Amino acid sequence: MFPAVALLSLSFFAIAYGQQVGTLTAESHPKLSVQQCTSKNNCQTQQRSIVLDSNWRWLHSTSGSNNCYTGNTWDTSLCPDPTTCAKNCALDGADYAGTYGITTSGNALSLKFVTHGQYSTNIGSRVYLLDASDAKYQQFNLKNQEFTFDIDMSKLPCGLNGALYFVEMDADGGSSRFTANKAGAKYGTGYCDTQCPHDIKFINGEASLLSPTFTAFFDPNAGSGQYGSCCNEMDIWEANSMGAAVTPHVCSVQSQTRCSGNDCGDGDNRYGGICDKDGCDFNSWRMGDQTFLGPGKTVNTNTKFTVVTQFLTSNNQTSGTLSEIRRLYVQNGKVIANSKTAVAGMSAYDSITDAFCNAQKTAFGDTNSFEKLGGLQAMGASFDKGMTLVMSIWDDHDAKMLWLDSDYPLDKDASQPGVSRGPCAQSSGEPTDVESQSPDATVVFSNIKYGPIGSTY
Ligand SMILES: *[C@@H]1O[C@H](CO)[C@@H](O)[C@H](O)[C@H]1NC(C)=O
Repeated sequence: MFPAVALLSLSFFAIAYGQQVGTLTAESHPKLSVQQCTSKNNCQTQQRSIVLDSNWRWLHSTSGSNNCYTGNTWDTSLCPDPTTCAKNCALDGADYAGTYGITTSGNALSLKFVTHGQYSTNIGSRVYLLDASDAKYQQFNLKNQEFTFDIDMSKLPCGLNGALYFVEMDADGGSSRFTANKAGAKYGTGYCDTQCPHDIKFINGEASLLSPTFTAFFDPNAGSGQYGSCCNEMDIWEANSMGAAVTPHVCSVQSQTRCSGNDCGDGDNRYGGICDKDGCDFNSWRMGDQTFLGPGKTVNTNTKFTVVTQFLTSNNQTSGTLSEIRRLYVQNGKVIANSKTAVAGMSAYDSITDAFCNAQKTAFGDTNSFEKLGGLQAMGASFDKGMTLVMSIWDDHDAKMLWLDSDYPLDKDASQPGVSRGPCAQSSGEPTDVESQSPDATVVFSNIKYGPIGSTY
């Protein structure tokens, strides 16, 4: 996630649950199979499931069906203060397909952008992979491993983001550290990322009711609270049909951490918080190859392809420090090497190393908060703790996704190094436009595999 806290936007007029568990709709996690490989062509299928993030769920009174939260506002009688609110409000089960446009089939997960349900219009979604228990997030350590999936984003236009990434959420959603959280991972609680999002309704077992101390951007479907929820984040894939980025981001803290004030790094204090909001991104277009990935290009986004990401360590073992993140693609049976950087002042890098990150920040004149907060070694330390797999589809109320697919920031000349990131128009990505013009936009993630380097493709 590059700039914003708005990972989600949704409008809800009917149902919602707090940190208690509601029972008006049974929670039944859609099944998704993944594969763990031990060597090439030697993979075992694992039956797993996914869970919808709690923020999207109907939050209502434990005693009935009164909304605790509507649009972007809390009900002041059910929620007079953060702890009472957590006691009074329950998160309910989800109708994944009918309300949220989330469906699975075998090893494929499909996320549809806008869904008109019986009571509500839902915008975007975010889901997590659960482990065999169906009640905890599966934990990944990808050091000296590779992670592979197929992507179909042919129906994902400018302004949208079909994202697959890892964050250092608690495996139980935080329910053992914060006992007021009764819902746990089974209801998708405990989200965090390096943007330290302020739109999370419950953080550390309390409702995030208090007003922010900074000026939040307006989203009719998501409010902002005083606190943010921060943690390390490894963005394997942030993309639409016009471009893609792979981006490690790190924080000075381990585990999900609630921030307030300066620690959140809001507004003008972007580089003063505990997390590296920019990260160290490899976006082929931004790194100088505008012919590499897109409709009809070398990696052709008009059809499905395979994305392989390798996490190499200093000693080629899990015990080593993370030293390099490599990317390759497979399409129509052909392995496609990553593009090479073609930027004045930089060597021809085709992977993410600390040397690449430092050279890129210098060439683009960007602040190097990635290095300051620990660089790849810190990203690897987060994998050692265990990271949770996230898949989402979202639009961007803060920065219109221009940081991914257009020119960004707009107050710089687009011919300056690093400003042009993709071919989309500077006027694209306005949420009201994409929501009205592309409601059927869909991303399909499938065929997830993980295992030792070279085992998954
Ligand atoms: C790790 O593996 C690579 C590729 O096989 C090799 O070039 C490198 O020397 C190895 N490093 C160590 C420390 O064994």
